[in-house]
Amino acid sequence: MVRKAIIPAAGLGTRMLPATKAVPKEMLTIVDKPVIQYVVEEAIDSGIAHILVITSKGKNSMRDHFSKDFPNAAYYREKGKTEVLERLETIGHCKIEFIEQSDLNGLGGAIYLGKDFIGDEPFAVLLGDTICDFEDRNPVLGQLIDVYNQFKSSVTAIEEVPADYVNRYGIMGGDALSDGIYKVSQWVEKPEPELAPSRLAIAARYVFTPAIFQCLEKTTKGRNNELQVTDAMHNLLNAEDMYGLQFKGTRFDVGNPLGFIKTNLHFGLKEAKMGEELRDWLGNETPGL
Ligand code: G1P
Repeated sequence: MVRKAIIPAAGLGTRMLPATKAVPKEMLTIVDKPVIQYVVEEAIDSGIAHILVITSKGKNSMRDHFSKDFPNAAYYREKGKTEVLERLETIGHCKIEFIEQSDLNGLGGAIYLGKDFIGDEPFAVLLGDTICDFEDRNPVLGQLIDVYNQFKSSVTAIEEVPADYVNRYGIMGGDALSDGIYKVSQWVEKPEPELAPSRLAIAARYVFTPAIFQCLEKTTKGRNNELQVTDAMHNLLNAEDMYGLQFKGTRFDVGNPLGFIKTNLHFGLKEAKMGEELRDWLGNETPGL
């Protein structure tokens, strides 16, 4: 059973400066919730009971956000604001721990910090700056866990990207089975388009067997002189089968200004009342209040 998840959220947020000078990119607001709350909710809705968030220096507000002991609780209680209290108290209603990554050593280095927390069981990884919206009430991580349960092997969310985007992603090589499932033969991190085995890109959600930790130990630093989880995944192929799943849903990268605005619009338009007003406003040629 996949019960534990690691959420890497240690990145600097350089593409969102100056907004991220003092506020972690994972704490930026989409409609009325910080990005990391969407990610934690996806994990919980997929059956995860225990989460480890990998943070870095200056990102304590994530810890505060999930604290049960929040400022103003006594005030809301005294005023009988039970609705407000309920909304705040149920944030991240599962066990969440935090660990600080002192030297930034890529996604592989961040995930490796979760080795003792995970122990000897399969686990999920959800990138903390990426929201995945989904269809049919099954979150993207839930879809991956279904495939894990079928094969008892690692499975990664993949999506097709344009050819000139492949050098921004981890790319998969392999063969299609059925229902969007691929048997993987190759992983390569951010290849140039002419060297890419396909246009199928890793999309921020993974389920791993614990064997990935031994692979991370043996993998040497790759792109940007950092430990790349994609390189460790490629090494894991020597020992275990791996699968890719073209998931049902949409990935939103919130770590750049255009992605951030698109994500806010997407989720704003989904809200019943706000969506209606927003749609009208977007159709208005002279936008104002
Ligand atoms: C990371 C991974 C990459 C993956 C991407 C999106 O890259 O290294 O393999 O495709 O996330 O999930 P980053 O966007 O952190 O550079």
